[in-house]
Amino acid sequence: MSIENNLLEHYRQCFNADPAFIARAPGRVNLLGEHVDYNDGFVLPVAINRAVWVAFSPSNTDQTTIVAADLPDEVLFAPQNLPAKTRADGAALPNWARYPAGMMWALTHAGHATPAMNAVFTSDVPSGAGLSSSAALEMAFGVAWQKLGDWSLPPMELALLGQRAENKYVGVNCGIMDQFASACGQHDRLLVLDCRSLTWQTAPLPENVVIVIADTMERHSLASSSAYNRRRAACEEAVRLLKENLPGVHSLRDVRIEDFNRLSPDLPEEVAKRAAHVVGEIERSQGALKLLEGGDVVRFGQLMNECHASLRDLYEVSCPELDVMAAIGQSLPGCYGARLTGAGFGGCTVNLVAREAAPAFKAALAAGYEQQTGHHPEIYICQASDGARVLP
Ligand code: GLA
Repeated sequence: MSIENNLLEHYRQCFNADPAFIARAPGRVNLLGEHVDYNDGFVLPVAINRAVWVAFSPSNTDQTTIVAADLPDEVLFAPQNLPAKTRADGAALPNWARYPAGMMWALTHAGHATPAMNAVFTSDVPSGAGLSSSAALEMAFGVAWQKLGDWSLPPMELALLGQRAENKYVGVNCGIMDQFASACGQHDRLLVLDCRSLTWQTAPLPENVVIVIADTMERHSLASSSAYNRRRAACEEAVRLLKENLPGVHSLRDVRIEDFNRLSPDLPEEVAKRAAHVVGEIERSQGALKLLEGGDVVRFGQLMNECHASLRDLYEVSCPELDVMAAIGQSLPGCYGARLTGAGFGGCTVNLVAREAAPAFKAALAAGYEQQTGHHPEIYICQASDGARVLP
């Protein structure tokens, strides 16, 4: 049964009726520009053909019921429960429920109506895998409330409210990339976002090349959100210290590599390493679109490999499984570049592979990874997909 039919069935069992609507919001994979969105850098993600699906109807009470079909679990809450992050019965909201509840909270604060709903959701975006299952959950509920509340926002505005929910309600200091990609994705297109101006464009994916996602099956844990917040704090500390000599600097985007090389020996070692990754990665991602437009997939792939090394050695967000997966990918015929994607600490690599080499690549990568780690990976070719919307 398709994911959509399964969801319909589940909804009928829970609520004895058909849902009024179905919303879908995709996960994402990022090709280049990692850990730079919160440093005003450039990111090049695509929305993927794995998504969160929500079946929903207005509940016509003040209580929202959300069923997580895959767990399974269920919460019931009203707007007055939002500040304390509790369910209607006073118990704490489970972690997964903080994303839709946080979305309701952020939308309400911004003045948008969020009528109570009955909802069931399911997802084939693996969670904790670096493919933005959380952002997809936020955006799916964002467009669901947009439908029920009868208002309309540009997708980037909805993305910003999703980021606010995650920063202020869930407590992860993430940047804008994931919500942006989930909201603004386009079929068959790469997204290119300037995270300072928030201007973005789409570009065709290079011809004869496919994006292969390789899941190490190693999951990042809750502890990784505090590690993530610490990375971000180190970047802010670098800006504060560099400003003493470079008063015009507002973020690491403003720091030229020559200035950084001159001043970084005076920074605390850890801060210097984190900032070195960011300054280098912004440089790599800045010119990346031009490379693709000029058909230079080879150089683009090299930048992906450099990115992995930098995330491993300087930003220190890789893990042994990701290093194994990236190294095998990079060594295989037809692979232009391979690196960890997303926040790190576990999850997936993204590989840019010549289309005709992809089947052999997948098989060799799976065999090599299994041989070296004893774990069976999940590997698939990804299609770039449309962003969050309520299905017609
Ligand atoms: C997570 C965050 C994003 C971004 C990436 C790293 O996915 O949600 O905002 O910072 O990590 O690039």
